[in-house]
Amino acid sequence: MLPTRWAPRSSPRWRAQRMLWDGAPRQAVLLYACAAVGALAPVVLLVGVGRIVRAAAGDRQATWPWIAVSGAAIGVLLVGDTVRDHVAGIARARLTFALQERLMTALIRPAGIAHLTDQGNLDALAGAKGALTGFQPANAPLTQVALAGDRLGGLAACVLVGAFRWWLGAGLLLVWLAVRRPLRTVITEHVAALGGDAGKIRRAVYFFELATDPAAAPEVRAYGLGRWTVDRLREHWLLAMAAAWSVRARVYRTVALTAGLVVAANLAACWVLADAVAHHRIGLAELAAYFPAIVATSAVGGISTEDIALAWMLASLPDVERLEAGIARSAVPLGGARPVGDLPRRTIRLEGVRFAFGDRPVLDGLDLDIPVGASTAIVGANGAGKTTLIRLLTRLHDPSGGRITVDGTDLADLDPADWQRRCALISQDFARLPFTLADNIGVGASRAALRAAAERAGAADLVAGLPDGWDTPLGVPGGRDLSRGQWQRVALARALYAAEHGARILVLDEPTAWLDAAAEADFHRRFLAMTRGLTTIIVAHRFSTVRRADRIHVLHDGKVAESGDHDTLLALDGRYAAMFTAQAARFAGEATAR
Ligand SMILES: Nc1ncnc2c1ncn2[C@@H]1O[C@H](COP(=O)(O)OP(=O)(O)O)[C@@H](O)[C@H]1O
Ligand SMILES: [Mg+2]
Repeated sequence: MLPTRWAPRSSPRWRAQRMLWDGAPRQAVLLYACAAVGALAPVVLLVGVGRIVRAAAGDRQATWPWIAVSGAAIGVLLVGDTVRDHVAGIARARLTFALQERLMTALIRPAGIAHLTDQGNLDALAGAKGALTGFQPANAPLTQVALAGDRLGGLAACVLVGAFRWWLGAGLLLVWLAVRRPLRTVITEHVAALGGDAGKIRRAVYFFELATDPAAAPEVRAYGLGRWTVDRLREHWLLAMAAAWSVRARVYRTVALTAGLVVAANLAACWVLADAVAHHRIGLAELAAYFPAIVATSAVGGISTEDIALAWMLASLPDVERLEAGIARSAVPLGGARPVGDLPRRTIRLEGVRFAFGDRPVLDGLDLDIPVGASTAIVGANGAGKTTLIRLLTRLHDPSGGRITVDGTDLADLDPADWQRRCALISQDFARLPFTLADNIGVGASRAALRAAAERAGAADLVAGLPDGWDTPLGVPGGRDLSRGQWQRVALARALYAAEHGARILVLDEPTAWLDAAAEADFHRRFLAMTRGLTTIIVAHRFSTVRRADRIHVLHDGKVAESGDHDTLLALDGRYAAMFTAQAARFAGEATAR
């Protein structure tokens, strides 16, 4: 189950604890018990050691119980750490899973994809994953418990010192608490300054990834970008750090002042102890217990690397909520609850459709009829808005103006997820799923159905070339990687399989962009047979891909500029004819040159 009872207005510290109690309640109880026992055992040990020393010095009264108590304390200390680490490991796994599930749920929930084009959301996601700092937010509550144990141990040491001189115990406690506050404040400020500008760190990290990404390696070398990426990394890193430097002077000042105070307080405490020994007010036994106790009091207020790590972990917690809030804000809700039923039967119609990224219109009053059972092609220059149009048709976005109707029903009234399942989509950046070849095409599909889809997509010979045939894992570490063109055939087979199994509309965005010439020619030859009876919408900038379509539309300036079949459009001698002739001439040139 997800931890659902969050209190977004409380501080990250409380929210982290909430996360622990919601996500791993049993482990929380155990961890607190471990922390308490681990905090008190050293003090018990010190008292025991004091008694044993006193016995050794001649007072043999009641030694054995104290030896037993000290032994038990040592045992608890030795075993306690192991138990705590084990329980913390379980809790960490549960919290990590709960957090990942929460992030995934938030990202997956919107039917549309508008929230994924929002940079703020992507930054928050990187923060919530702890990707930029390496500190996992799920560790925050566990570190808190460990630190709470330290505090308690320090407090117990103060009490023990107080048994010697109450004002010394109280004084040390006050000094440590006085020191803790400003130190914690500057550390939190430092972390906020450093982590506050995720955008800058993210850009720096981007250059790191560019230089270390195998896919980018050829370009990085061919264009001599290696040194350049290092310089850019340094430049953006320095920019990101500048804010932290402005706080750093204050960090150093605070550390110096508090260190001075701490040294003075410890010197004074040791002097008081030494004075008592010198005047025979206490003996060796008390010294053995009180001196280590004075040292141990620091835990009540000292700042350790764990505190700094905790500040980082806590800093990424608000990113989780920032992401959820950002998604709620930027995900354009796709309404509609009507089941799709057997739609579409006749026509999908776009009327005056508008869509803009920011204030830049991409589609600007577009009218288009897509007949059911026929193939419709959309062509246009790069950036004309073809992919955007596909995303509106598959309801990954809704138009900002105009409307799309399916047999007269507004697409916006239909259940978006239901509609999306009717669309077998090969997106331009088709997904390379880290599954086996079989699951890439159809999860749970029969071999016969897989074979049919692969054959139609021209992917059948792929199976024979893979070591485990259908069961070869693809695109996973240790698995087999395919070429882009081979992946594209797999994507095509996936779409055709879906089209055979309930999807009614086949939507192909640049389906041959990665295919070699032979495969592309093969695709064209079989395109009609492959898509017979289906409602096909095919997008391409290569005209050879679309010339067989029943109807071709040229997208220009956010509108349909020309429509007709290939011959009609050529006869029109307009934009289509000009683009087609240019491409044909290029291919003819290539053919002659060969
Ligand atoms: N996520 C986005 N944010 C901002 N602009 C975008 C985004 N996606 C696409 N665009 C812009 O919208 C225009 C149309 O893009 P697209 O539909 O992908 O064109 P096509 O598929 O015809 O090449 C382009 O100018 C592109 O830069
Ligand atoms: Mg495109």
